[in-house]
Amino acid sequence: MITETPAKQLNQYSRTLTQVVGNPGAKSMLYGIGLTEADMDKAQIGIASTGYEGNTCNMHLNGLSVYVKQGIQASGLVGLIFNTIGVSDGMTNGNDGMRYSLPSRDLIADSIESVVMAQWYDGVVTVVGCDKNMPGAVMAMARIDRPGIMVYGGTIRSGHYKGQKLDIISAFEAYGKKVAGTISDEDYNGVIQNAIPGAGACGGMYTANTMASSIEAMGLSLPFSSSYPATHEGKQEECKKIGAAMRVLLERGITPKQIITRQSLENALTIVMALGGSTNAALHFLAIARAADITLTLDEIQAISDRTPLIADLKPSGKYYMEDVLAIGGVPAVMKYLYQNGLIHGECMTVTGKTVAENLAEASDLDFDTQKIIFPLSKPVKSTGHIQVLYGNLAPTGSVAKITGKEGTHFEGPAKVCNNETEVIEFLSRGEILPGQVVVIRNCGPKGGPGMAEMLKPTSMIMGAGLGDKVALITDGRFSGGTHGFVVGHITPEAVEGGPIAFVHDGDRITIDVANRQVILHVSDAELAERQVGWQKPVPKFTKGVLGKYIRNVKSASEGCVTDEG
Ligand code: FES
Repeated sequence: MITETPAKQLNQYSRTLTQVVGNPGAKSMLYGIGLTEADMDKAQIGIASTGYEGNTCNMHLNGLSVYVKQGIQASGLVGLIFNTIGVSDGMTNGNDGMRYSLPSRDLIADSIESVVMAQWYDGVVTVVGCDKNMPGAVMAMARIDRPGIMVYGGTIRSGHYKGQKLDIISAFEAYGKKVAGTISDEDYNGVIQNAIPGAGACGGMYTANTMASSIEAMGLSLPFSSSYPATHEGKQEECKKIGAAMRVLLERGITPKQIITRQSLENALTIVMALGGSTNAALHFLAIARAADITLTLDEIQAISDRTPLIADLKPSGKYYMEDVLAIGGVPAVMKYLYQNGLIHGECMTVTGKTVAENLAEASDLDFDTQKIIFPLSKPVKSTGHIQVLYGNLAPTGSVAKITGKEGTHFEGPAKVCNNETEVIEFLSRGEILPGQVVVIRNCGPKGGPGMAEMLKPTSMIMGAGLGDKVALITDGRFSGGTHGFVVGHITPEAVEGGPIAFVHDGDRITIDVANRQVILHVSDAELAERQVGWQKPVPKFTKGVLGKYIRNVKSASEGCVTDEG
C-alpha cells in the first residue's frame, strides 16, 4: 500500500538530493532530461534493463522497463531507464562466443553497480531475462545494498512441430540426430524453424527459470515473477506494480542485504532442488552469497540437497515446461507446499515488505488430484536433491553433478579424453565415443576455457546419438540447465591450474560414485605424480581484453567464479 511519506523523505540516503540535485551542474542536467522542479524532491530509481534485440530472452525487456517506469512515476518516484549487456547462452553454446557467457554475469553486476553508484540512484529495479542476467543483477543489488527489486522477463511459450512441443533443447538434440543420421532434413528444418516462437527465456527448468524461481523464493522478486510467461498479461501487470513495491521498500529502508540472508539463500536453494533446477544455480548462489558477505559453501549446498526431495516433473529431466507451472498456482503454490512441510523459512523478508509466510498466505494450494507437475513429498521423483557435490581424487576441491536418479547413481568405465569441446563433436561424428565410456572434457574451466563454457552441444549431441544413458561425462566446464544425463561438471581444480583432470589418459578407469560422493581416477598416487613431472601451466589463451582480465581475476568454480575479490 502506498502511504503518504513525502517524496523528499524517501531519499533516505540523501544521495540524490545532496550529491546530484545539490550539484548545480547535475541539477541542470536533470532539467535537461525533462524533470520538473517537483521531481527534484523525488527519490530516483534506476531501471537497469538487459534488453537488446538479438535474443528472444531479452528482446522485450526494454518494453517491460517502460511499464516499470510508468509504475514508478505513478508512485511519486522518478524512474530512469539505463541499459546493460546480455549474452545469449542459447546462441553461444557450442561456439567460441560461449567464452563470454559467464564473464557477462560479472560485467552485468559491475555495470549496474557502476551506474547506480555513480548516478546516486536511491534504488534500482533490474529487468532481466537470460541465464547470466539474473545472478549478475542480484550480485549488483547485493553490492549496492539500496532498495531493489528484480523483474524477470518471463519464460518463453513452447514451440510446436508435428504435434510435438519444442524448445531450444529440441533444436540441439535434433542436430545430434542429424549427425547420427536418424532425422530427415525436412524434420530437422521443421524443428529448427518452430522451436522458438517468440519472446521469453528458454522454457524448461533450465538456468534462467531456475534462477528466476529461486530468486523469487529468496524474496527479491514479486510473487509470480518467475511464473508469468514473457507474453502473459500478468507480466506487464507485475511491471506496473513495481513502483508501489519500491516505495514501500524506500519508506521502510528495506535493502537487499536484509533480504539476502542465510535463511533466504536456503529457501532459494530448496526451490532449486525441489524443482530440479540447473547446476549453474550452485555457481551463482555461491557468488550471490559472496556479494552479500555471507559465507556459503558447496557442502552447505549439499546439505540442502540432502534434505530436499526432487518433486517436479519439469524439463530437462521431466515432461513439463515452466509455462505449465502458472496454471497450477505458480512458484508461490510450490513454496507454500514446501513451507507447510517445514522446508521453507517463513520469517524471511521480501520485496513486498512482507515476510515469505505472509506472502504465501495469499498463494493457492497445489491440487494433487488434478495437477501432475509437482509430486507429493511422499512420492518424490527422488528422495533427495538432484544436485550433488562430489569430491575424490579427480575433484579434490569439489565438483557439481546433476543426478535425478533416472541415470542411476554409479557409473564406471574407461576414460575418453577430449581436450576441448570440439573434440567431442569430432569423436562423436567418427563413432569413437562408445557405450560405457566416461567422456572427459577438459581445459574448459573458468581460466582454461576461458569462461567455463556450457557443454550443451556435446551433451545434446550425445543424447541425439542415442548415447545419453550409455556414457557419463565429466568436465571442468559447466552444463547448460538444459543438459541431462549422467554428468559431473565444475571439477576443481581445473585442468589449466594443474588439477588431476589434466592428467587423465585415454582408457584410465574412472568411477563416479554418487552414494559416496566421489569421482575417482583409478590411477595410483605414484603414477599420477609421475604424470605431473615437468607439467607447466599453459600459456593463457588471452592476456588482454575482457577474457584476459577474466583469466587474471576469476576464482574457481567452487568459489562461485567471482571476479571482484582480487
Ligand atoms: Fe536465454 Fe536460454 S538463451 S535462457
